[in-house]
Amino acid sequence: MLVPTARFIFVVGLSIARVVEGVFTRVRVECERVKESRKVPERKIPTFHDETATICITCSIHDIIGIGLRKFHGSYFTDHSHTLLSPNPNFITGNAILSAMEQFWSGSATNENKGMVDNLHRCGIITSRKVAEVMEDVDRALFVPNGVQPYIDSPMAIGYNATISAPHMHATCLQLLEKNLQTGMHALDVGSGTGYLTACFALMVGPQGRAIGVEHIPELVSFSIENVKKSAAAQLLKDGSLSVHVGDGRQGWPEFAPYDAIHVGAAASEIPQPLIDQLKPGGRMVIPVGNIFQDLKVVDKNSDGSISIRTETSVRYVPLTSREAQLRG
Ligand SMILES: C[S@@+](CC[C@H](N)C(=O)[O-])C[C@H]1O[C@@H](n2cnc3c(N)ncnc32)[C@H](O)[C@@H]1O
Repeated sequence: MLVPTARFIFVVGLSIARVVEGVFTRVRVECERVKESRKVPERKIPTFHDETATICITCSIHDIIGIGLRKFHGSYFTDHSHTLLSPNPNFITGNAILSAMEQFWSGSATNENKGMVDNLHRCGIITSRKVAEVMEDVDRALFVPNGVQPYIDSPMAIGYNATISAPHMHATCLQLLEKNLQTGMHALDVGSGTGYLTACFALMVGPQGRAIGVEHIPELVSFSIENVKKSAAAQLLKDGSLSVHVGDGRQGWPEFAPYDAIHVGAAASEIPQPLIDQLKPGGRMVIPVGNIFQDLKVVDKNSDGSISIRTETSVRYVPLTSREAQLRG
């Protein structure tokens, strides 16, 4: 009696496992098919940019709401990349079937920095020659941890609950700040992380300008300095027109204020007053603002000192917070 029961359970269990495996295989094959069919990158409507790299309840809820909004609007969300889990953490957040559509160039992966920049240009993210040149000069591979694919359009975990932002977000911020990154200008990169954008800023403002990175994790400051030393911005670091400092970026960096351009690489619950104070009249700040729901804000200081704020797009960044809170996760 016992033997047939055990065999029955075994057969039923095996059948269920095969059905589950079949479903997963179908989903994977379908994702591959969608990827293959997208050999030429298309311009998608960027309505949401996810710069985090961890799975959490909030992200999952956000993803589920995101799918609803995407269906409602018929537009694409981009870059739901939770890179701490592999191979496809979107299974967990319910985005598996849609994941193949979530990057700007899902069907044309590249293993060259120039290819990445070309893709950003073809997707319409980069429109300026200067931004393209600077992103070609600063090789993203020098700024990501070893073993990570540098040129895919996704944020990547860099440790300490931080990420390097996705290439399309770096490009978007450079585009938004381009006019305030002319030769000789002063730029502040708050939450400078890997140092990638600080290096881009330094090349844009040149040796007569100033590019200042402020990051509150000392290990990331050391990492970023080593990265910059290997990059096209190495000489500017040596000469002192590029520098990276350990500090609470919510206080800005008064020493080289006022700034023509301020970039904030982490989401603030509200715009820190010291950053507004350190913006030059005519200056521009790009900052993600919000908690669960975040917007990339463009803050312009007018010549009379008044402030104009507009929303560029919806985003999801790691929070601009205290070092302790960040390390607690
Ligand atoms: C999304 S990462 C962006 C890093 C950088 N833009 C890049 O692509 O490499 C955000 C960074 O902000 C830093 N950060 C968060 N709160 C900060 C604060 N109060 N002061 C300075 N840095 C902060 C984090 O440690 C992290 O490195």
